[in-house]
Amino acid sequence: MEKIMIELTKNPKNKPDSKNLGFGKYFSDHMFVMDYDTGKGWHNPRIVPYGPFSIEPSAMVLHYAQEIFEGLKAYRRADGRVQLFRPWDNIRRMNNSAERLSIPKVDEELVLEAMKQLVRIDIDWVPSDPETSLYIRPFIFANEPHVGVHSSNKYIFCIITSPVGAYYPEGMNPVKIFVESRDVRTVRGGTGSAKTGGNYAATLRAGEEAGKRGFSQVLWLDGIHRKYIEEVGSMNVWFKINGKIITPPLEGTILPGITRASCIDILNHWGIPISERLITIDELIESAHKGLLEEAWGSGTAAVISPIGEIFYKDERFIVNEGKTGPLTGKLYDYLTAIQWGKTEDPFSWTVIL
Ligand code: COI
Repeated sequence: MEKIMIELTKNPKNKPDSKNLGFGKYFSDHMFVMDYDTGKGWHNPRIVPYGPFSIEPSAMVLHYAQEIFEGLKAYRRADGRVQLFRPWDNIRRMNNSAERLSIPKVDEELVLEAMKQLVRIDIDWVPSDPETSLYIRPFIFANEPHVGVHSSNKYIFCIITSPVGAYYPEGMNPVKIFVESRDVRTVRGGTGSAKTGGNYAATLRAGEEAGKRGFSQVLWLDGIHRKYIEEVGSMNVWFKINGKIITPPLEGTILPGITRASCIDILNHWGIPISERLITIDELIESAHKGLLEEAWGSGTAAVISPIGEIFYKDERFIVNEGKTGPLTGKLYDYLTAIQWGKTEDPFSWTVIL
């Protein structure tokens, strides 16, 4: 493995008030960077002071969006130590996204080592207030100066970190979601299961319009039939209907969420059956009409477990569990976050203590 060079900052920044972090607004003192050139491969891994890149206006990412990213967190444990949550899964998923976007894969061992060293160097940036963590954002973008359409011959891989609180301003309070019936996010064969910026760009118009109407998120339907429930963009989605837990299956259009996988493992561990199956918006609405929609929640690294209190579809508003966090949603949140913050034993071996 190539040695990671380290250049420490001479101007450490003031840290933000950890009681008012919000999400993704502050960045720690250092970042990890590595370059790729065709014929040379990934090279020059280094940790340097956080700062701007200089890229050419013709850098291919600016034109053709050849870009991927990841999101994971470092948590301050109850005993003061710091741990990463399922970093291997994020790194593996990043290489799957790389494959889809025709980006050269990275050495998974080197990336884990880079994350560990970066978090260790900026360890004082890992907050300890309740519900805070250090969000780790690895990303790769095409950097060849060329406006012809082809896979780039140059890339930059970078990892930045950001101390964060809750993703939604609502915190752990239930969010309101708007079911989108005009725009679609992806279709099978597209890039829906890769973590690439374009998937998110396609959601912004609907997100903005939903926001103006008081909804925090958009619930996406499939791009062909416009009836199968997919995901909420920043999270995978779950329903408890008449005692049964349902989440849409991984069929290439939604992100294979690591928090989604953790929910599945936890529910299995508790002996609660789950059905990964297609569910139409009509089935959801019908179950809500019949009073059978007991709970709804989203799962994601940034959003953690986020209860859904209201669903709006075709001019009708459905309140889930009286707009309150459901008992199973609350229990999942408590157990998952207890593992993440090292307050309870981790029977799944998900955590990596630094
Ligand atoms: C994450 O949960 O880490 C994500 O990347 C979602 C993003 C919209 C913040």
